[in-house]
Amino acid sequence: MTRRPLVAGNWKMNGLKAGLSELEAIGAGYSAALKAKSDFLICPPVTLVAEAAKAVTGKGVFIGGQDCHAKASGPHTGDVSAEMLKDAGAAYVIVGHSERRADHGESDAVVRAKAEAGLRAGLVTIVCVGERREQREAGKAIAVVREQLAGSIPDAATAATVVVAYEPVWAIGTGLTPTKADVADMHKAIRETLGQRFGAEGQNTRILYGGSVKPENARDLIIQPDVDGALIGGASLKAKDFLGIASAYI
Ligand code: 13P
Repeated sequence: MTRRPLVAGNWKMNGLKAGLSELEAIGAGYSAALKAKSDFLICPPVTLVAEAAKAVTGKGVFIGGQDCHAKASGPHTGDVSAEMLKDAGAAYVIVGHSERRADHGESDAVVRAKAEAGLRAGLVTIVCVGERREQREAGKAIAVVREQLAGSIPDAATAATVVVAYEPVWAIGTGLTPTKADVADMHKAIRETLGQRFGAEGQNTRILYGGSVKPENARDLIIQPDVDGALIGGASLKAKDFLGIASAYI
């Protein structure tokens, strides 16, 4: 099996209805050449998931949530379940983003429970991992990420249902990026870890790179043996930049 690249946008807490015009432009720009090479996914804020799903009907662009609760329903004011995302038209969900790990104190165990919820609801679940700056400086980046993988990925993960996103925390929104060699080393380590635990499924699981991906640096960062796509924050808000990054694959 060859791993089909996934070009994914995480809009974070950005986007009002007016911003759906950028999503429509992404759908319009998802050419036959791009479709032949990569999957497209946009994860808007939860308020826009249903409208976003409608806006890309027939375009082949997937829509996803940015987080979900571990439970399917219940007394959890303000939370959204994986089933609700699915019902609104999502096909994917991101869990364990470093902003949620930091802002909401989400542990690996919490992330794993959310990932299990994503699988239960039939959503392809993107599990995010990544080291902080001081962990990299201490030479612990790979060990930290291995531990996150062990703690955050459900045992039931398969290549079709789980995607891993490696996002070094210090590269998110900063314009800083790891070197090509550092990305290669980390993705190789993630591949080994997945292979040891999941066998062929691990070999076939997509591993995305995220953190300050832009059209200018996309080729260097994502055209590498164990990099199967990008998770894009800021640059996914503009169709031109998102399409510019995706064009690295054609
Ligand atoms: P930036 O592309 O803005 O650095 O964000 C990356 C990210 O966190 C995507 O989930």
